[in-house]
Amino acid sequence: MAVMKSMGVVGSGQMGSGIAQLGIVHGIDVWLIDSDPNALARASKSISSNIQRLVSKGLLSQAAGSSALGRLRCTKSLEELHSADIIIEAIAESEDVKRKLFLELDKIAKSSAILASNTSSISITRLASVTGRPLQVIGMHFMNPPPIMKLVEVIRGADTSDETFNATKALAERMFSARRLLGVVLRGVDCITWMTSAQAEQITRTINPVVKNGKFGYGIGAWGTPPLATSGIYSLPYFPVCRL
Ligand SMILES: NC(=O)c1ccc[n+]([C@@H]2O[C@H](COP(=O)([O-])OP(=O)(O)OC[C@H]3O[C@@H](n4cnc5c(N)ncnc54)[C@H](O)[C@@H]3O)[C@@H](O)[C@H]2O)c1
Repeated sequence: MAVMKSMGVVGSGQMGSGIAQLGIVHGIDVWLIDSDPNALARASKSISSNIQRLVSKGLLSQAAGSSALGRLRCTKSLEELHSADIIIEAIAESEDVKRKLFLELDKIAKSSAILASNTSSISITRLASVTGRPLQVIGMHFMNPPPIMKLVEVIRGADTSDETFNATKALAERMFSARRLLGVVLRGVDCITWMTSAQAEQITRTINPVVKNGKFGYGIGAWGTPPLATSGIYSLPYFPVCRL
């Protein structure tokens, strides 16, 4: 499995700017994209001041901080993403808008690239269905704010390949310097009734192999996510593959 060197992050708001920051601090070249130049300017300023804060607290050397900032490129142009190894979408929580973006990204991204969504509630299978690469589409649901909340749920769609899953998990571990993985959010099963059948199907597909392997664990607490996730309850039962 090749190590990911470059990442595109589409949407430079609350989540996208935090994901971009995590990427550059962990040695990944990041193109941060937003259709709104003001949002891009805000994101660039906030990432820069966050990194300066890490340096002033001694959590990052001056040299590491400068190299991290050197790895960040902010642009309005999606075309810049043609060579990215993975593209993480963090735009508005609207299925129509996200589907349009995935359609475009599928045309621009290189054939080996993974397309990931930070959606809190939309079916990964449905987003993947507009692309010609459903095996390479996956959910990466970061918590807010990503650089502080060391947790990401890696969500498979119906067609996500093992290769995509493993590469995404490796990236998540790298971004959070993972020390441990955990199993199922057991009480998450209680929440399936609130979900669409597609989402429930997704969970079942993810949980079953893990249960079979006997790897039980407990995540952030089944009721821990709603205040953080824009659309609350739906994100709860997703299987958090990586707790870091
Ligand atoms: N905020 C949270 O607590 C949280 C937590 C987990 C997941 N999420 C998910 O993350 C995603 C982003 O949430 P957010 O809070 O960062 O939103 P936000 O409103 O802060 O930022 C979204 C950004 O996307 C940009 N954008 C919209 N459409 C675009 C397009 N087609 N191309 C390029 N840029 C575009 C907007 O200009 C904006 O800057 C949503 O799917 C949300 O559900 C949010």
